[in-house]
Amino acid sequence: MIYHVYLPSFRDADGDGVGDLAGVIEGLPYLHDVLGVDALWISPFFVSPWVDGGYDIADHTAIEPRFGDLATFDRLVGELHRRGMRLVIDYVPNHTSDQHPWFVESRSSRESPKRDWYIWADPRPDGGPPNNWVSEAGGSVWEWDERTGQFYLHSHLVEQPDLNWRNPAVRAAMMDVMRFWLDRGVDGFRIDVVHMLMKDPELRDNPPSPDTTPNPYDRQHPDFTTQLHIHDRRHPDLHTVLRELRALLDSYGDRVAIGELEVMPWKDWAAFYGRSLDELHLPMNFSLIETPWSAGEIATALSSLEEALPPGAWPVNNLGNHDRSRLATRYGEAGARTAAMLLLSARGTPILYYGDEIGMTDVDVPRELMRDGFARHEGGPSRDPNRTPLPWSPAPGAGFSSSPHARTWLPLAPDWPSRNIERQRHDPASMLSLYRRLLSLRRASPALRAGAMRLHPVQETGCVVYERTLDDERMLVALNPGQAHRTVPVGRVELMVSTRAERALTEQASAIELCPGEGVIGRVLA
Ligand code: NOJ
Repeated sequence: MIYHVYLPSFRDADGDGVGDLAGVIEGLPYLHDVLGVDALWISPFFVSPWVDGGYDIADHTAIEPRFGDLATFDRLVGELHRRGMRLVIDYVPNHTSDQHPWFVESRSSRESPKRDWYIWADPRPDGGPPNNWVSEAGGSVWEWDERTGQFYLHSHLVEQPDLNWRNPAVRAAMMDVMRFWLDRGVDGFRIDVVHMLMKDPELRDNPPSPDTTPNPYDRQHPDFTTQLHIHDRRHPDLHTVLRELRALLDSYGDRVAIGELEVMPWKDWAAFYGRSLDELHLPMNFSLIETPWSAGEIATALSSLEEALPPGAWPVNNLGNHDRSRLATRYGEAGARTAAMLLLSARGTPILYYGDEIGMTDVDVPRELMRDGFARHEGGPSRDPNRTPLPWSPAPGAGFSSSPHARTWLPLAPDWPSRNIERQRHDPASMLSLYRRLLSLRRASPALRAGAMRLHPVQETGCVVYERTLDDERMLVALNPGQAHRTVPVGRVELMVSTRAERALTEQASAIELCPGEGVIGRVLA
């Protein structure tokens, strides 16, 4: 299981109200001993003006001082490896900050040797931007540069110019960035917006979208859904780049490439594994996050993934993420418990977003306290509500910061005095206790970790039911996301976990009665 540490909100060791790398080291006993996490994915900690949560990098190989320094980073790697844990860090290839020396040089003149490191284009004859592409953050992706008389492309904020991956010098420089961190011992990368790496070289207009309804499961500016994004992303040439990145990783041995991908047709998604499984090890899929919480829809998402998966490939699942509304906000407390069971029992490597294990919800962040640059455009999305500091205890400041009265970079959730790690550790009915039970069952069960998955037809029970099997071990999972009581015929199973703490865990001879919102895992007995 990979735990996603959103760094500024995980734990603050130096008392400035912002989480840091030393805070992650302090949190390792919790992550390792209490949860049993196998690997961490830590969000960006590189030097950055921080207009997009550090996804605007100004120096790829230096650490933003408020997060620590290279010595602390090395210490973290050592502490993780000593415990047998792995470290995945963010790799942001599509763009840099406009403060990055590469871009400063690129925009200095048309003759700059780095001019072609970014994507520059002339205006249309009417003086307008080169094409109609719009950004997820709102508005055109083109910014006019007065001094050199051209536009540059920024798929996100204006401060995030896109690199030109068609330029071999850019590829070489970005490969060196990977080498730098691999040499320091990282075990892999979560590669940001992989699908955007290559665009249409002719910069053709995107066609209008027949359906302009905003995606209810994502935080995007409404401008974004006005067109079909067929030319500004997913150009097939990007697969060549991924093969190069993968070859570099492979030359270091056992390292992992996880890719962030938007939801797309399954066939296109599967292509990111590579024809001979020589691209991403784990292309993320957001289909479960973008699935309405009903048995039919969840089962369809699971079976579509299984059908699309190339032979020999392994899936990765996530239900929470720093860009999306919190799991417990989307599905409510009972839904979030069933979702936890789904995440930790479906086939694939689970990624758990920090705080979901205690059922954190979106926090109403007042406009004047917002940090997310995406929120600056009228109607723009703020992702701050789902990025607030992790409450560790009922102590002042929620035990988040070493300085209990530090002003945290985003406000704490109002329910932190009751919803915190320490409280939940001592409450057997809490969300955290459920996560711990599920995680320890997963560790003890080869079938849950690595077994095959077979889905039962939803029509039979109105529930999501699947079996995970490996050798002689058969585990049965039954999830009832609906509002009605359901009966799932099972034969003889020994119930191991229920999302409802009140349920007595006994042997079931013929059928399990599931309450609304309940999920169970049982061992199938011969
Ligand atoms: C995806 C990241 O998850 C998101 O937080 C960021 O704003 C964009 N990529 C741009 O890097």
